[in-house]
Formats: sequence, structure tokens, C-alpha cells
Amino acid sequence: TIAGPCGLVIFGVTGDLSRKKLMPAIYDLANRGLLPPGFSLVGFARRDWADQDFGQVVHDAVKEHARTPFRQEVWDRLAEGCRFVPGSFDDDMAFDNLVQTIQDLDQVRGTAGNHAFYLSIPPAAFPKVIQQLARTGLAAPRTDEWRRVVIEKPFGHDLASAKQLNKMVNEIFPEESVFRIDHYLGKETVQNILALRFANQLFEPIWNGNYVDHVQITMAEDIGLGGRAGYYDGIGAARDVIQNHLLQLLALTAMEEPVSFDPNAVRAEKAKILAATKPVGPFAETTARGQYTGGWQGGQKVPGLLQEGGFAKDSITETYAAIELAVETRRWAGVPFYLRTGKRLGRRVTEIAVVFKRAPHLPFDATSTEELGQNALVFRVQPDEGVTMRFGSKVPGSTMEVRDVNMDFSYGHSFTESSPEAYERLILDVLLGEPSLFPKNDEVELSWQILDPILKAWRVNGKPEPYPAGTWGPESADRMLTRTGRHWRRP
Ligand code: BG6
Repeated sequence: TIAGPCGLVIFGVTGDLSRKKLMPAIYDLANRGLLPPGFSLVGFARRDWADQDFGQVVHDAVKEHARTPFRQEVWDRLAEGCRFVPGSFDDDMAFDNLVQTIQDLDQVRGTAGNHAFYLSIPPAAFPKVIQQLARTGLAAPRTDEWRRVVIEKPFGHDLASAKQLNKMVNEIFPEESVFRIDHYLGKETVQNILALRFANQLFEPIWNGNYVDHVQITMAEDIGLGGRAGYYDGIGAARDVIQNHLLQLLALTAMEEPVSFDPNAVRAEKAKILAATKPVGPFAETTARGQYTGGWQGGQKVPGLLQEGGFAKDSITETYAAIELAVETRRWAGVPFYLRTGKRLGRRVTEIAVVFKRAPHLPFDATSTEELGQNALVFRVQPDEGVTMRFGSKVPGSTMEVRDVNMDFSYGHSFTESSPEAYERLILDVLLGEPSLFPKNDEVELSWQILDPILKAWRVNGKPEPYPAGTWGPESADRMLTRTGRHWRRP
């Protein structure tokens, strides 16, 4: 579907996210013919730029990061709609200029009063910008126009602050005009979780505590935090990705079938599961918190967090977090959900592994099943997107020996279509007013409610456990699972 007449205003246009993801995504959408001909992109930031300077910045970002080929005529059309408004967030005059710019665009580009405001800025500035949008009337569309606000994460830093932020946002923008970005929901493989579960007969009958032993959700990254101290110090792994990406993955894995794919039906089912999800104590045994130290990665020596520029020398920010959760429903009673994430781990991989119980009886002698593990269904979110099913198979030969094998589905083999980048999909959905892939206010609050008790306990016990870069995290993470006879997968 092609978006109708509209424009996008980006606050924080000098940041990394704008340059690496947002601007290229907008170009790619234009290139695929999904933006209206008069589409306009307004940048707002504290720089002494004219429209042309901004256009050049967008141009360079597109050249470097866009996924589709550069086509001059597509670029020229986009460039004509680029405007820049210089100013800081508490500068009333700058916002009045923004109003003027938008009115001009409505005239010359035909954006018809339809505008989305993308807050790619430090969270502390969210309230200020939203108040400015209210003060200037930019938040209030006239009949037949729309105004939407897109809010990057982190959405608050705990339950209380998230509630406060929701309250203030919802006083100015009605909930259907609020788009909280969680870019994991824009990933093709993440959307496939519901397709796999609910389009097939194969999985759902065994998708419960009668058959499932436990679920592991892993988001491992090999990159460190060099250059991101300003954002990350004091935030840490749990707030950065567990509160949003990993709890959304849990919700999609565990939720009941929605009555339809209506945006509210899907989000209501996710909210129900989040409401039933509880942290499991004692946290000293059921959670792990780590910080990377120097080590080796991909044959290179890399510094520890405390040697990265910008981090406080005694920073206790965690770069690794693992937690155990219980989903208190009939379907999931007794099934632990383990979530883990970390920077500077062995390699980059995100996956959801549903690990099944062992067969109740094995008619083989014990020595022939020594290399037989537990069946597992693994959603490979990235890289190498696909699904793996692990089960036992007879080893060829004259004895009855059974060993684990994998059956793989790979996007690359099964489809010729390529997946759009997550931000492309999500920006288009904002312009179309399609909110399915954006967490609602209640989901965000429920996620903080799950995390709050753990964050409080961590605050008391202070320091994260060091782990060398290039490993799979602190030892306490292994103990979390071995205490019940389980172990983390080595992806
Ligand atoms: C972001 C986090 O939301 O996701 C980053 O703030 C993280 O810390 C990034 O690196 C990972 O995204 P992706 O799409 O590369 O898995």
C-alpha cells in the first residue's frame, strides 16, 4: 500500500539512528514507490544548516546506508521535499518556524496537513518536544488531517516514569496517534512467529507445559559500546533490550491466538501474557548481571567497558543480563522462560528456542542415546534467518545409535523475495496509520512491571560480574540454569 499525502518531521536528525536507519529507510520506501509524490522530510536540530545542507546530509546517509540502488530521479524528487529547521527544543521561535515550514509544505508539496513527528532524541527531551507540539497546535489536526508522534526507546526508565510519560503523551496525542517504536517488531522473522504458530496444525498442540520443558530467548551481540556511552551508561542491558525487544519476543511466543489480526486484538493478547509474566526469585540465583572486560574477538584484542571512552571509571552499568520469568497461565505453568542478552559475546545471534521435554520412555539401551538431547524448535531471528527443528535420528550403521540432527528452514532457500529493513516497514506503517507493530501504553507499562523488582534488587547488590569479551557472559548466568539441570544453548 502506498502512503497518502504526508510528511515526516525528525527531531534528533544529527544522531546515529537518523543517519544509519531512518534516512536510508525513507529513501528505500521512495525507491520502492511507497511514498506519495509530494512527500516531505523536515529535519529539526541545533545546527546552523540551510535546507541544502540538510539535503546533503540525507544524501550522504542514503548513499552509505540505503539498501536499494541509488536512482537519481528518486533522489531528486525526495530532495525537493527536504527542509531544515534550526533550533533547540526549548526555543519557542524555532517551533513557530516549524509551523510555518509545515504550512508552506502543505501548499507547495501537497502534504495536506498530514504529518508525523519522529522523536529520535534523548528520552529526557521527550516531554519538552511534546509540549512544544501541543503549544504550537502541531499536535492537533484539523478535520481530514492527521498528526502522529513516533517515540523511540527507552520509554521511561522504570514503571513509575513510564506511567508518567504515557500520561503526559496521552493528554496531548490520543493513543491511536502514538507510535512507540520497537524495531524488533518490524523484523520479518519476528512477524513470522505468529504465522508459524497459528497458520499450522503442527506446533500448537504441543505448545504448552505438557510438552515444553523451557524456553530460551537469546539476543547476543558481538559489538561493544564504544561511542555509545552517552546513551548507554546508567541504562544497561536490561533497560536497553529486555524491557522492549526480548519481552515482546516472549509475548509473541507465549500469547494465545488472537481473534483476528486486527491491531487491537493482537496487542490485547500480548498484554494479557505480559500481565501474567512474573520474575522468579531469589534473584541472586535466577538472574545474572555482567560487564565485559578486555578480551579477544574475531582475532582482535578489544577493550573492556571501563576502558571505552565516555564511561565512568567505576560504572556499574551491566552489558549482560539474564533473567528467569514465569508465565502464570494454564498453558505455561511450570515452564521457565529464560531471557539473556549481552554485548561483546561470542557472536551476533538472536533466537528463540522452545526446548521440549524428553520422551517419557526410550526403548533403547542407555549407551545408544548418550548423544541424544532434547527436541527443540528454534526461531532464528538473525542472522541466517529461519527455523530449526532438532530431533533424534538413527546414526547410519549396524547399531541402533540415536543422535541429534537439525532440520532447517532458511529464508534464503525458500523465498526469492527480500525482507524490508525493520525501520522501512515501521515508518511506512506510521504513515499509513497502521499501529499493529507498535506496543501500546499498557504493554510498555506491563513490561516495566515485570522488570522493576529485578532492577531494584540489582541496585542493592551493586556491581555486575566481569566477563571477558568474546565469551558467553558471566559464570553466574550458567549457574542460573545448571541449578535445575538445564544449560544455555551455544548458538
Ligand atoms: C537497539 C539497542 O534497540 O537494538 C542496541 O539499543 C542494539 O543496543 C540494537 O545494539 C540491536 O539491533 P539489531 O537490529 O542489530 O539486532
